Amino acid sequence: MSSKEYFDKVAGQWDHMRQGFFSDKVRKVAVAKAGIQAGKLAADIGAGTGFITEELVQNGLRVIAVDQSKAMLEEMKKKFGRFDTIEYRIGQFNNLPIQDESVDYSFANMYLHHVDSPLKAIEEMVRVLKPGGKIVVTDMDEHEFEFLRKEQHDRWLGFKRQDIERWFKKTGLKNVKVDCVGEECCGDSEDGSKKAKVSLFVASGEKS
Ligand SMILES: C[S@@+](CC[C@H](N)C(=O)[O-])C[C@H]1O[C@@H](n2cnc3c(N)ncnc32)[C@H](O)[C@@H]1O
Repeated sequence: MSSKEYFDKVAGQWDHMRQGFFSDKVRKVAVAKAGIQAGKLAADIGAGTGFITEELVQNGLRVIAVDQSKAMLEEMKKKFGRFDTIEYRIGQFNNLPIQDESVDYSFANMYLHHVDSPLKAIEEMVRVLKPGGKIVVTDMDEHEFEFLRKEQHDRWLGFKRQDIERWFKKTGLKNVKVDCVGEECCGDSEDGSKKAKVSLFVASGEKS
């Protein structure tokens, strides 16, 4: 099963699954790092069913929500169809369906560990940012819970914070910071024999 097939399959249960994995604190920390302002335009990449998007629209931002999975975006539409400030776009990490230098913020939560090339994913998130725009990525620190590859289609077992910092700087971002979210991502293997508990980082930077 591909990653897209996996997320298409779990779309209807994703909100319930996510609540077991991590709390709302993650999006509060992400949004605070960006210093968001109402009326601005944000991209939520690997948006899923809208965990980050929800926080953004409730704070008066407009959002372009991008995901490879139509089913995940359909679930988001069911919840937020009343907002005319969200655009839903199907797209891949290496060719985001967003114009160059067109958004004020680029967010991605728990997305980077699913893509083939994290550096390319970051480059794309930076490409769509206006000069002076901010990128915020929240994801898992490096871990050893191999079962997550098979059971949740994780491509990477988290990341070293030095690698994230290096990739951010390689794209030319300034004011790069990689901090603790102060929250863990938790999940059990299907047979209940293994329990993952992984700390989360929040990485931020500004486009020159
Ligand atoms: C773990 S979910 C996180 C969803 C949401 N950001 C959240 O915090 O609830 C990862 C999301 O990234 C999307 N995704 C994974 N690989 C992708 C890719 N190569 N291109 C675009 N989206 C991708 C998946 O379809 C899924 O919706």
